[in-house]
Amino acid sequence: MKKRKIVCIPGDGIGKIVMEECLRVLFAAGFMADYIEADMGWEFWKKDGNPLPQRTLDLISEHKIALFGAITSKPKDAAVAELNPVLQNKGFTYSSPIVSLRQYFGLDICYRPTKSYPGNPLNFIRRGPDNEIQEPKIDAIIFRQNTEGLYGGVEWTNPPQLVYEALRSHPKFIQNFGDVPKNEISISTRIFTKKATERILRAAFEYAKKNNYRSVTLCEKPNVIRETSGMMYLMAKNIQKSDYPEIELWNTNIDAQMMWLTKNPEEYGVIVAGNMFGDIVSDAFAGLIGGLGFAASAQINPDSGIGVFEPTHGSAPKYADYKVSIVNPIAMIESACLMLDYIGEIKVSSTIRNAIAAVIAEGKTKTYDMLKLSGSAEVINKGAATTQQMTDAIIAKLK
Ligand code: NAI
Ligand code: MG
Repeated sequence: MKKRKIVCIPGDGIGKIVMEECLRVLFAAGFMADYIEADMGWEFWKKDGNPLPQRTLDLISEHKIALFGAITSKPKDAAVAELNPVLQNKGFTYSSPIVSLRQYFGLDICYRPTKSYPGNPLNFIRRGPDNEIQEPKIDAIIFRQNTEGLYGGVEWTNPPQLVYEALRSHPKFIQNFGDVPKNEISISTRIFTKKATERILRAAFEYAKKNNYRSVTLCEKPNVIRETSGMMYLMAKNIQKSDYPEIELWNTNIDAQMMWLTKNPEEYGVIVAGNMFGDIVSDAFAGLIGGLGFAASAQINPDSGIGVFEPTHGSAPKYADYKVSIVNPIAMIESACLMLDYIGEIKVSSTIRNAIAAVIAEGKTKTYDMLKLSGSAEVINKGAATTQQMTDAIIAKLK
């Protein structure tokens, strides 16, 4: 059989470290593929003025499946200061390559599962009615619209006259902001399209149906953000009624959801939201199952079949150059499991997840985050496993 080709984008900082560990696990689990390393990140910005080279986009177009580690982003002025002097003042502007990548390929469906592993010392606990300690079993998956809404990039400080005049045609603008000079106004738009909203809603319902979840929770704020959240709620109701009558539609407000999160997180299964609220609610749920060392993410375009799989965490530059690495590789390895599920390699992904579960349940190997230590080179002397030791432990449990 022809070996599958996977584009592998380590990126910056600990992205490079966790990628290497993840490939070791894939190999040990018997998943044979050709990994084509592709360039992205700060290094390429500094050198060439482009953190996301066209050659990388071409590789992803060709092979469709990519694993991504993490990149470093810095504010505008730092980006300019670090750019190759030859390229300075030539009109190069920095923008986050991972955001550009999502938009270039229309990776509008993002999903982030958060499932607690028994025995993880970072699992959320609370007190029950008899003062007993409870550790609710969390098994939620957040579907986040990944390309528009508040992160759509349509924003201004001191907006152009045309935009300003359009705003002045809105009675609420006159009422609330009518006296504010134009140059004292910043605007970030929240644009929802029917097409993208329908796609993320349907992806969530379809997932719930296939995986026997009894409900889909829309987490927005339709009572206040009436147009965008309101449209999403209306569409969710229609889709549920016509195509998924067996699945309940729950509607929660993002603020209330943050409160419910610690009261009854075990009640929630599939959650769907726009871009920013999806980002918030998925980070919040990730906190209940161990945080950034455990949070994985998939982003796909169902039309082209392109899928990019990455941990939620960033490049954690302060831990990137340790002689002995201390970061937790599990989020990256879990992201590879999402990739395996997506390409139909369910057996391999469940073998890997079982191995992770076994290591956590056994409780012998814990990275510094699992020991609730703050990160430093000293954590190894305090009993923390190194990144490589965690990977080795997982590999030893593969069967
Ligand atoms: P970060 O996620 O890189 O790190 C925040 C903190 O979380 C770290 O200091 C560390 O304590 C912990 N952490 C992260 N990953 C961990 C792991 N695998 N194991 C154990 N602990 C872990 O976020 P930060 O510091 O805000 O950003 C650093 C850089 O990463 C920035 O340049 C930022 O722009 C970029 N970034 C990139 C992302 C991406 O590539 N998708 C996402 C988030 C941030
Ligand atoms: Mg985030």
